[in-house]
Amino acid sequence: STAEVPNTPDSFEAVGTVSQLEAEGQILNENFKNGAISVTRNPEDSELLYAVNPTCTHNRCLVDWNAAERKYICPCHGAEYSPDGTVIKGPAQENLPPYLVKIEGAQVLVQA
Ligand code: FES
Repeated sequence: STAEVPNTPDSFEAVGTVSQLEAEGQILNENFKNGAISVTRNPEDSELLYAVNPTCTHNRCLVDWNAAERKYICPCHGAEYSPDGTVIKGPAQENLPPYLVKIEGAQVLVQA
């Protein structure tokens, strides 16, 4: 069928590839519909993915993924977040917004 897929809030958008996630430990896509998106995966359980908007909730700097420590660190004032976006160190007080994420074939998709 050639029916158009409506761009509903339920639709998933490809943000990167599984090989990119495996090679770099993170997919950072700044052209996602709702702003930047960051996807990481749990090394102990490759099925367990996390997607968050990596814009610091303190003052909107882009947070860096620290793969060794498995957390996001804000370069501006040092706030830290767990892979699911939960604040673990201030000055940020609000969590990074989480998104639903899934793998389909070679693609990583995030709910837009
Ligand atoms: Fe991230 Fe201030 S902008 S800690």
